[in-house]
Amino acid sequence: MCGIVGYVGKRDAYPILIKGLHRLEYRGYDSAGIAIVNPQGDLNIYKCRGKVFDLEKFTQDKDVSGTAGIAHTRWATHGEPNDVNAHPHYSESRSIALIHNGIIENYAVLKEALVENGYTFQSCTDTEVLVQLIEYIKSTTNCSLFEAVQSALKRVVGAYAIAVVEKGNYDEIIAARKSSPLVVGMGDGEFFLASDATPIIEYTDQVVYINDGEMALINRSKPLKVVNLDNVETRIGIEKLEMSISQLEKGGYPHFMLKEIHEQPKTIVDCIRGRVAADGSNVVLSGVLANKDKFLNARRIIFVACGTSWHAALIGEHIIEDMCRIPVEVEYASEFRYRNPIIYPDDVVIAVSQSGETADTLAAVEVAKQHGAFIFGICNVVGSSIARATDSGAYIHVGPEIGVASTKAFTGQVTVMTMIALTLAKEKGCISQPEFTEVAQGLLALPRLVASALELDKQIKDLSKIFTYAHNFIYLGRGYNYPAAMEGALKLKEISYIHAEGYPAAEMKHGPIALIDSEMPVVVIATANNIYDKTVSNIQEIKARNGRVIAVVSENDTQVKDIADYCITVPEAPECLMPIVVSVPLQLFAYYIAVNKGRDVDQPRNLAKSVTVE
Ligand code: G6P
Repeated sequence: MCGIVGYVGKRDAYPILIKGLHRLEYRGYDSAGIAIVNPQGDLNIYKCRGKVFDLEKFTQDKDVSGTAGIAHTRWATHGEPNDVNAHPHYSESRSIALIHNGIIENYAVLKEALVENGYTFQSCTDTEVLVQLIEYIKSTTNCSLFEAVQSALKRVVGAYAIAVVEKGNYDEIIAARKSSPLVVGMGDGEFFLASDATPIIEYTDQVVYINDGEMALINRSKPLKVVNLDNVETRIGIEKLEMSISQLEKGGYPHFMLKEIHEQPKTIVDCIRGRVAADGSNVVLSGVLANKDKFLNARRIIFVACGTSWHAALIGEHIIEDMCRIPVEVEYASEFRYRNPIIYPDDVVIAVSQSGETADTLAAVEVAKQHGAFIFGICNVVGSSIARATDSGAYIHVGPEIGVASTKAFTGQVTVMTMIALTLAKEKGCISQPEFTEVAQGLLALPRLVASALELDKQIKDLSKIFTYAHNFIYLGRGYNYPAAMEGALKLKEISYIHAEGYPAAEMKHGPIALIDSEMPVVVIATANNIYDKTVSNIQEIKARNGRVIAVVSENDTQVKDIADYCITVPEAPECLMPIVVSVPLQLFAYYIAVNKGRDVDQPRNLAKSVTVE
């Protein structure tokens, strides 16, 4: 979390930095700040609580001139979101400014030593310690700023992506990373720096991803220099960005989330493009085929993920076990990494992450690596840390997802997992061709089915008005629809702040049923499958206790429409693909309730899209 941007070159830095912050606001948005070295060499910092928009207002009458600067949008970890704790932070003499994404875990020890040496602290952040330490080292050893940063980082325990500028020097930015992302954009006599490529794409498509443990010396009149903390120089690999600016804009929608929900027919096409044969006879997922022996001889497949990606993994577990008869486990990455997990060298670990930057998922990958497992990534962001840390992988190709609540990435992840299952089942010979073709054709039909589910928009909008002021919700589903119920509940709580629980429908009678009364709306996913009748019984149990049932049913529904209070009818797909189809109305339902409540849909309170701290 936290977004960082930097610019050094010949243009005015301020507009580039502000625009970049807006692009990175999804990473955190409780305060923002900017540090610019003006043409006289003064180092000016402006920062305030609130969003980037508030920073713009705050800087309206300030001197923001200068061609070198760094900027930050924050998601607080240490110290409440306020003006003082916002980044950048000055050093003691106000000659150095620093921004940071991550956590300095040993900040308390370092701070104590600095206080003993006469340093005073303004903020409650862990970050301020680092800028003070840099100044302390620089002034006591008489070294360059670059050397001071290098030496300070050797004393730091924790995660960081940092950018540092110094008074009197408008030629240079020093940057470094460990466990938090950083990318440098290569211009002509100018450089851009950011947490991801979205602030850079406007100016250049040539980028260098800084690797873990590396530092960059970014000087506008010299070639980019990248070294490790022992000063060993790294060969720079310039990569070309495949991204367009229009993907980063709302395109006429009031929110990114609504745009992203409506993009799903197209993003699913992008996800399956070139992978599923036009007649459904074959699926080619090169990352899986190239490593098919690893998968087919796997003792187990273990999914590691967080949040929505974890819900997608639960669906992946069901599909792969069902189709491929390979044992699958699904782990919260944050639990997996710390509980001394049993991992065999013949396990395959699949890390699922939209951003490819989630700290816990990345750490789980490292743990699995240490045990010799084969690691496969399912990511969206090309070139992200997890994508680069895994042995192989498959991108979901749904384009930048900016709304904090994940929508199109979820459906893309489930689509990729289905393709993995089909590929493995075919290679293993445990699926008949007609069964294979039915699901593969289901994948090809998905864009049309999702488009048809999107036509429910108006109905869902009307329905949302009835439930805007509910205090609690229960979401129920069975089989493939159980993770879809959890994901539906997560969407609602994330953006509307209404408490919602997702549960397996049959488990309701072991607890949640006690909550049911005439005030409790229950969303039941009751599409046609072999346990449809069981789900119908669960609905009867809710109705017998006066609960209000909103049912999601398939087109040919026979019973639920007569007992549910409200019915949302979705088109039919092969059972394993139904979570994708039913997710669409549930995403819209959460969206409209949040809008009715006046919530900040794209930037809900306390959340961030990319969680790069533990
Ligand atoms: C955050 C986001 C969620 C996301 C989760 C995992 O909590 O708000 O939308 O599902 O992180 O993110 P990842 O990028 O690893 O999928």
